[in-house]
Amino acid sequence: MPKSAAELKAEILRLTREFSAAAHAANRPGNDARPAPFAPGQTTVPYAGRVFTEDEVEAAVSATLDFWLTLGAEGEAFEQELAAFLGVKRSLLVNSGSSANLLAITALTSRKLGERRLHPGDEVITVAAGFPTTVAPIIQNGLVPVFIDNDPVTLNARVEMLAAAFVPGKTKAVMLAHTLGNPFDLSAVTEFCRRHHLWLIEDNCDALGCRYDGQFTGTFGDLSTQSFYPPHHLTMGEGGAVNITRDMKLKVLVESFRDWGRDCWCASGKDNTCHKRFGWQLGELPEGYDHKYIYSHLGYNLKPLDPQAAIGRQQLKKLPAFIQARIDHWNHLRAGLAGLEEFFDFQLPTHATGWTTNGFTWDASGHRTECSWFGFMMLVKKSAPFTRRELAEALDAAKIGSRMLFGGNLLRQPAFVDLKKERPAALRVVGDLAGADRIMNECIFVGTYPGLTRPMLDYMIETVHRFVKTRS
Ligand SMILES: Cc1ncc(COP(=O)(O)O)c(C=O)c1O
Repeated sequence: MPKSAAELKAEILRLTREFSAAAHAANRPGNDARPAPFAPGQTTVPYAGRVFTEDEVEAAVSATLDFWLTLGAEGEAFEQELAAFLGVKRSLLVNSGSSANLLAITALTSRKLGERRLHPGDEVITVAAGFPTTVAPIIQNGLVPVFIDNDPVTLNARVEMLAAAFVPGKTKAVMLAHTLGNPFDLSAVTEFCRRHHLWLIEDNCDALGCRYDGQFTGTFGDLSTQSFYPPHHLTMGEGGAVNITRDMKLKVLVESFRDWGRDCWCASGKDNTCHKRFGWQLGELPEGYDHKYIYSHLGYNLKPLDPQAAIGRQQLKKLPAFIQARIDHWNHLRAGLAGLEEFFDFQLPTHATGWTTNGFTWDASGHRTECSWFGFMMLVKKSAPFTRRELAEALDAAKIGSRMLFGGNLLRQPAFVDLKKERPAALRVVGDLAGADRIMNECIFVGTYPGLTRPMLDYMIETVHRFVKTRS
């Protein structure tokens, strides 16, 4: 008798798990019972990467066999689980963190927001050093980014510059990233936004699991964004999310721009959620025109696939352990590199004033941050007898992955230099951006991702010590 589809699926999934256990040993969490073999100097120590087990591979294959393909039941479940994890009203999945940022700012241009709508020429305060697609969507919407400086040690916005950036009647929003898994000063920023009635978008792409005064980042602003690209705290290959923290009106707008600009909010495969599919009259369309094909915005299609969401759901179950591993790895590296403060400024959490073997010391504000570290950042001091580039080359030769802080001072990137030349009014800069320049010139980070093992971390520590010794 031929096997049923259910029997065949069960057999395929059993074999899938067996395959993944055999094929993906190097991608398992670093504290796995069966750690991948590590040969110092021969095995590459990546700065980040996908960390998964047979659970994710089974989920991907299972959803692929079901062949729904477009965002469906897995996507809906993941959206709900992510929103519940963070404690926000809704999360909407998208195909990247960059798309999430594009949608978050674009949603605020909707006519449906009335007086609070963003208009071309309105100003959005942002920060100079970071990832380009935190800023590009501001410009892509005809809005004007106003750049303030970064603190070179926390890597976050220097919030004391917000007041200087503010122009009454022009400034309408603040859009900042929690850099490298370190919350920015949410107390100062939310107070500033409240006082001036500004929108706040938190780019939480590198910071899932961070807390500020005990509350997850990504839950303070009007909207926040996630990236699920492989180096991030969880992955679905390509992917991301927009979190709607409180106001469900924004959910309808983000969803509309994500889904072709449509007015209808039916999920994929569903009809008539509004119970008046043929009862609308909008624009200059005839009365009763199918709501599924009514477009209230100039939208995009930025949805991911359902099998990607199935992967994300498995990753979310592992997220608390992933976050803890990032914190443990950062602490291990920091303790191992103690004594090298003469050569490096090591990153500090916002509100921390220093690090000791007992933990961080804190400023007098009373606020506390808990980092969900994206990486372990070292600023090479000007007085050090070596350069950042020499350290990067030494790490590379030792097969240790490192990165700079993404685009550095974005204003020095060719795209922004051209923009300044061609359309000087398209952006505005406040102050000299000396912190962003320092980050661009002196910062380097290595991995804290959950795939790292203790021997790898110890090898990273030894390599940095050995390098410093040969130079001093
Ligand atoms: C702060 C920040 N925002 C946005 C993004 C974009 O995310 P994605 O690569 O998923 O488009 C990144 C990328 O890593 C990032 O670091």
